[in-house]
Amino acid sequence: MTTVTKTVIPVAGLATRFQPATKAIPKAMLPVVDAPSIEYVVAEAAAAGISDALLITGRGQGAIADHFDSAPELEQALADKGDEERLAKVQATNDLARIHVVRQGEALGLGHAVLTAADHVGEVPFAVQLGDDLIDPRDEILPAMIAAQAELGGSVIALMEVAPEQISLYGSAAVEPVQTHLPDTDVVRVSYMVEKPAPEDAPSNLAMIGRYVLGPGIFDVLRTTAPGRGNEIQLTDALQNLAASGTHPVHGVVFRGRRYDTGNPLDYLKTVVSLGADHPDLGEDFLAWLRDYVAGR
Ligand code: UTP
Repeated sequence: MTTVTKTVIPVAGLATRFQPATKAIPKAMLPVVDAPSIEYVVAEAAAAGISDALLITGRGQGAIADHFDSAPELEQALADKGDEERLAKVQATNDLARIHVVRQGEALGLGHAVLTAADHVGEVPFAVQLGDDLIDPRDEILPAMIAAQAELGGSVIALMEVAPEQISLYGSAAVEPVQTHLPDTDVVRVSYMVEKPAPEDAPSNLAMIGRYVLGPGIFDVLRTTAPGRGNEIQLTDALQNLAASGTHPVHGVVFRGRRYDTGNPLDYLKTVVSLGADHPDLGEDFLAWLRDYVAGR
């Protein structure tokens, strides 16, 4: 049984890197092959045993929650056509999770978005999943993070090695070794974190990726965290305050699996091609076409 039953999925950012594509539709609704990216994120939580998902949304993002409602007219039309396969896919999204929505009101930063979840979450550890990061279902990370939080308390972040020149796109962490009883999981203690440092100031090339298992102690710290980089209330700054406090440890699970970025047009294209090539129904034909296409360039 998982100790974590709730996930918080902030999607209320302005998505500036993806304009104008996301001017009128939420970034989380951009399709990745045949499902919007938000569906991959909620499915990842469900696979980890988390069935309560709180979306932190903003203006014009109603479609995200609608995606998880039943759609009786559409389902009837598919049933009448005898299209059992598509009907099953449409209905599967209805049962993935219990979806809740809180409005952020104003996009004041990821830390502020997470703080709006305080009433729903209560006094228990909870997951946070950023929709820009898709984790390959074959390489799950949330179960290891939940187990690490259960053993070590405090909060747990996800880390991934990146090329040194890439670190300024992420939060970066200074880490120390730590012993745990968790088999096959690379856990480290995090002593320092900084959001999007210049490469020469980065404490390591371990990048913070968009998965967290946070202790409820984060909320009090977020309430007093001043705006930081980009004048936004940064989750990384609040975690750094906790790590420095000595009372709420922060650990990291180092992820070595497949992760896809959908936050900007170039990485989004790479994600669609990677997951398209792996798709059980479309992959073979798509790859054959792609090989010809590339050969002809
Ligand atoms: P990002 O920093 O990637 O921001 O936020 P963004 O708005 O999505 O995209 P850019 O950088 O402007 O192109 C990381 C996650 O936190 C959410 C975003 O929706 C994204 O899922 N977020 C960010 C909020 O929910 N509220 C905020 O105020 C800021």
